Amino acid sequence: MSSVNNPAEKNLAEMGIASPEQVQSLFAELRSRLDSEAAFVSGANSLKTFRDAWFGRKSGVLTLVGDNWLKPASAELKRSVGQELNKFKAHAESVLAEKESSADSTAGDSQTALDLSLPGVIRPIGTHHLIRRVMQEIEDIFFSIGFSVVEGPEIETPYYNFEALNIAEHHPVRDDMDTFYLDLPKGAPGPLLLRTHTSPVQIRTMEKRQPPVRVIVPGKVYRRDNPDATHSFMFHQIEGLAVDSDITFCDFTGTIDYFVKQFFGESVKTRFRPSYFPFTEPSVEFDASCIFCGGTGSMKTGGVCGKCKGSGWIELFGAGMVDPAVYGFVNYDPKKVTGFAFGIGIDRLAMLKYGIDDIQVFFQNDVRFLRQFP
Ligand code: FA5
Repeated sequence: MSSVNNPAEKNLAEMGIASPEQVQSLFAELRSRLDSEAAFVSGANSLKTFRDAWFGRKSGVLTLVGDNWLKPASAELKRSVGQELNKFKAHAESVLAEKESSADSTAGDSQTALDLSLPGVIRPIGTHHLIRRVMQEIEDIFFSIGFSVVEGPEIETPYYNFEALNIAEHHPVRDDMDTFYLDLPKGAPGPLLLRTHTSPVQIRTMEKRQPPVRVIVPGKVYRRDNPDATHSFMFHQIEGLAVDSDITFCDFTGTIDYFVKQFFGESVKTRFRPSYFPFTEPSVEFDASCIFCGGTGSMKTGGVCGKCKGSGWIELFGAGMVDPAVYGFVNYDPKKVTGFAFGIGIDRLAMLKYGIDDIQVFFQNDVRFLRQFP
């Protein structure tokens, strides 16, 4: 209430109020002033002004009415002033409560309202896992020399995982690989297993395509290997297969050499080592010198290097010329075609290239590790 002509600042005698009827009309006038001021209240600021003007403890209208009208009122008027003041107070409080509740709901509206001028919320987006990135790097290198990508199932039949790769049922090589078989319902055609290498996709591809074939096959594989710094029971391989009418061992070593130099750079020391796979002949293992001990096999602090187990080399992949027996399973004529194949352990390649000393960190999803490869 503005202080200009504020009747509450004067006492009843000063205003010439001498009868209960005059008291009633004085309060009626006050009430209509309150109602008309309340009608203009909208928003937090005007509500505060209204509240201070009428309910302020020191100089609000209600306090002044008590001090200037009620307290000094004559004995004849005191009762009617008290009654009217109580009625007025109840009315004023209900008006205030109504204004406060409508101000609350308006404030809620403005909180939920969409303010398009505010800056957007920036949500952190992830990056590719290091394994995926290394896979991509490897794929790009092979794309550049004419290979394309194919994929195959992670759940395989023993035929594709073993037999068609020239690994007969009782072949000792199965001991390392005869691992995770699926529990199938009775009567289901089976058995099925989690593939132990990406080599079954060689067979699936040759069944579908005639030479020339030049493919790579990235994917997950599973084995019952005990976890340590370089072994995991689930890891990643990238298979390679090239078959044509005149592919030689030189094409094979030249391709591997090109890949390794592109991936690691010129400085890495590598070696082919004779090996055995039933589906390649001749077969080799390809190793790179151990970056953790500098290829010496022992640690500077003394003791044997735990990563390469003292050999100074880390095995990266198996490979070789496709065994002619395999062509018999896919109806290729072994007299007309030759080829080579390889199966690279992607996780180990990533470890060597990025200096990671434990394969397990790839699968622990610790963001402190993942953030190092943004
Ligand atoms: C094979 O899996 C063959 N299929 C590779 C092959 C393909 C040979 C085509 C000839 C022709 P091997 O078991 O050696 O081979 O595994 C290949 C690579 O996978 C290894 O050199 C190693 O880098 C990686 N690897 C093997 N076992 C593990 C494991 N438990 N954890 C991580 N990497 C592994």
